[in-house]
Amino acid sequence: MKIFAVNGSPNTQKGMTHILMETFLDGAREAGAEAETVFLQKKKINYCIGCYRCWVTTPGVCVHRDDMAGLLEKIRQADCLMIGTPLYVDGMTAQMKTFVDRMIPLADPHFELVDGHYRHPRRYGEKPPDVVLLSVCGFYERENFDGLIDHVERMCRNMQSRFVGAVVRPSSYIFTLEGLLPEPVREIKEAIRRAGRELVEKGTLSPHVLDDVARDYLPKEAFLKGSNEFWDRCITAGKFLNL
Ligand SMILES: Cc1cc2nc3c(=O)[nH]c(=O)nc-3n(C[C@H](O)[C@H](O)[C@H](O)COP(=O)(O)O)c2cc1C
Repeated sequence: MKIFAVNGSPNTQKGMTHILMETFLDGAREAGAEAETVFLQKKKINYCIGCYRCWVTTPGVCVHRDDMAGLLEKIRQADCLMIGTPLYVDGMTAQMKTFVDRMIPLADPHFELVDGHYRHPRRYGEKPPDVVLLSVCGFYERENFDGLIDHVERMCRNMQSRFVGAVVRPSSYIFTLEGLLPEPVREIKEAIRRAGRELVEKGTLSPHVLDDVARDYLPKEAFLKGSNEFWDRCITAGKFLNL
C-alpha cells in the first residue's frame, strides 16, 4: 500500500499531529506500507480563486504555478491519502482546507449520478485514493471531532473516495507526558501503531482500536486542574512552554 500522508499542522515536526501521524505510519510500515509525508506549512500553496480555468481553459492544470501540481501527482499515485490536521475551531486548519480546495483539478466538471446524488467524475478515470483522517485536539472530549469527521466523510463522497475512518486523539498533549504518565502514553501509542498496521493488513480501522487511541487517561477534573496550571505557567513565562 502506498500512503501519501499530508500534515496540515503549522507546528510541523514539533506538533502533536506529527506524533500521531508518525506513530500510525510506524505501524503501517511494519505491515509493509510505503509512506511519504509532506508538511503543508513548508509548501507554497495559494488559495483556490474559483476561476474554473483548471476545468475549462487548461483542463486539469491550475492557474497557480506553485507546489500543488507536484502534490496532485502524489495523490494520483497513492492508494491511501492520509489527511492529518489538528482541530482548529472545530474544523481542519486553513492549510489543510486550502490543500483540499486545490484538489479540484482532479475532478471533471460534468455531472454524473452516483447512488442518487450528482457528483463530478474523476478527470483521469482512475480510482481515487482511500482517505484516512488523523486528528488531534486540545479539549478533553472526543465529540469535539464530530464536525470535522462529518466534513471529511462528505468530502470523500464528493470526491468519490472511500472514507476508511478517523484516528483521533483528544487532549493531545498527553504525548508530552511520557515522564509523568508512562503507562497510558505507551498504551495509547501502541493503539495508534496497531491502527496503522490494521489499515495495511485489513484495509479497515476497527472501532475498538479507534476507541483505544481516543480513550481517557485522566479523570476529567484532573485534566482541568493540570491544564489550567499549565496555562498559568505559560502566562507567567510569557511563552508557550513545551511540557
Ligand atoms: C487557532 C486554534 C484553534 C483551535 N481550536 C481548537 C478546537 O476547536 N477544539 C480543540 O479541542 N482544540 C483546539 N485547538 C487546540 C489544538 O487542536 C491542539 O493544540 C493541537 O495539539 C494542535 O496540533 P499541533 O500540536 O500539531 O499544532 C486549537 C488551537 C489553535 C491554535
